[in-house]
Formats: sequence, structure tokens, C-alpha cells
Amino acid sequence: MNVMDRGVKTHSDRFRELIRNITGISLPASKVVMIDQRLRRRVVAFDLPDTESYLQLLLDGQGMEAELRLVIDLITTNTTSFFRESEHFDFLAKEALPVRLAAKGGAAGRPRFKLWSAAASEGAEAYTAAMVLAEQQKRGVQFDFAILGTDISARMVERGNEAIYSVDQLSTVPPEMVKRYFMSSRHPSVAGKVRVVPELRRYVRFRHLNLMDETYRVDRDVDLIFLRNVLIYFDAADQERVVARLAQHVAPGGYLVVGHAESMVVRSSGLKQVRPTIFQKE
Ligand SMILES: C[S@@+](CC[C@H](N)C(=O)[O-])C[C@H]1O[C@@H](n2cnc3c(N)ncnc32)[C@H](O)[C@@H]1O
Repeated sequence: MNVMDRGVKTHSDRFRELIRNITGISLPASKVVMIDQRLRRRVVAFDLPDTESYLQLLLDGQGMEAELRLVIDLITTNTTSFFRESEHFDFLAKEALPVRLAAKGGAAGRPRFKLWSAAASEGAEAYTAAMVLAEQQKRGVQFDFAILGTDISARMVERGNEAIYSVDQLSTVPPEMVKRYFMSSRHPSVAGKVRVVPELRRYVRFRHLNLMDETYRVDRDVDLIFLRNVLIYFDAADQERVVARLAQHVAPGGYLVVGHAESMVVRSSGLKQVRPTIFQKE
């Protein structure tokens, strides 16, 4: 780079800034190879010679909003699995549920436990929670529940609502739960796929939500929020803002659960640490 170039932003710089502004995801300059790989199929779809030309079109072209939504699908990292960080689901069954049901003791009718999977990806976290809660109902605990899954990726939201997974993804699900909560079909078009049974799906719904938004259209009496493995993509200021905003949606005495690499990030007042990665609203 010669001296004259200093301060001139490349398409790649502008793109990383745009993604950061919309999603909060910090993409350091070292991620250009990853960006290149993830956008390759869009470069091909537009029959362009390289990523630079595609980014120029995306940034300066007209009517690229739908394309930008696709790009967000491609740029987000959606890694997830059933029973990921399984101690959180033990905590849900053995502590969060009884504590919250006891707190709702006086409510008329069956108490309702509300759970929000706030960076849900394709839904494994939300359906794991649904299985764990349904098992408690089966054991005779009297309650109802509702689970909301949200994600910035429209494709992930769609996948969550479809609730179709590959058989390989079930390796972390106990066999008796696989039997009870997943169904398969002999039809060749869905070979190797399973779907969550409707009896469980009815408790769970997914919708689009950007954690960078100033406010969220979500209830403010949620019993437990999973905010796992997403804060790591944000810078410190955004991490703090997101945690503070989410804390407003936790019922007093309810819980916020973060990923094992993220517990240092939660410093909001009004949240007491009860486990290394679990915080309770005072
Ligand atoms: C690595 S996955 C974590 C999935 C699940 N929570 C888990 O721990 O298995 C991170 C998810 O966060 C979503 N995400 C990233 N930025 C987001 C934002 N600003 N708002 C909402 N979701 C976001 C991504 O689309 C992705 O699906």
C-alpha cells in the first residue's frame, strides 16, 4: 500500500463495517479468506469475476436488500447441537423449573414456564429444552410451557420452524428421547432425515430478531433465556448492551444462561452469578 492509499476504504473494509453495523458481528481483516469462501456461491450466482466485484454490487447496487439478507445467512456461524453444554439442561430440569414453578405457586391454573432461545440457530437448543421440559411433565410435574427461538438469520428461523434434522445430529440425544420426540418417513426424498413430532413442535416457535435492535418485541417475564455462543462474535460494548437489554426480559428470579466461553461478559447490575455461566435476576 502506498502512502496515498491510506484512509481509502476497500469494498472489503466497507462490507465488514456494514455487517458489524447490522449484526454486531466483528469480522477482523484476518477473516477475508473466510468471507471470500462464504460468499463464493453468490459471486458465481451473479456471474462475477471475484468477491470484490460482488461486494461493490452489494454495497453500491440498487435493490440489494434481499441479497443482503442472504449474505447475513452466509456470514453468520450457526454451529449448534442437541444437548450442547448439557449441564445447562440439567440445571433447567433440576433447578430453574422447580424454582420458577414455586415462585408462580399462587397463579391460578397450571403455571406456564417461558423460555427464550435468543440466538437459536436452527433450533437444536430450543427443541432440547422442549424435550427436557416435556420429560418433566411426563414425570407428573404440573405445568405448561412455551418456547420462543429467535435468530438474525432468516434461513435458520425457517429451519427451526420446519424442525427437520439429519439423523447424524441425533447422536447427542438419549435414545429414548429420539424414539419419543422424532419421527422419520420411509419416503426416499427424506432419507436420513427426521422431524420433531408435532406434539413437541406445538410448544416452540421461531421468529426473526436482531439482538442489535434497541428494543425487542418479547415478553418481559421470561423464566429462562439462553444467550449462548453468540456474545463471542460481538465487541465488548455490544456485549454489554445486549446483556442489559435481554436482562429486561427476564422475570425477577428468572435466569440468563450464556455459553461457557462467555461468562466474563455478564457484568450487568441486577444479575447475580449462580453458576459460572448462569445468572439470576434479583
Ligand atoms: C453459534 S450459533 C449458537 C446457537 C446456539 N445458541 C448454541 O449455543 O448452540 C450463533 C447464532 O447467533 C446468531 N446471531 C448472530 N448475530 C446475531 C444477532 N445480531 N441477532 C440475533 N442472532 C444473531 C447466528 O445467526 C447464529 O445462528
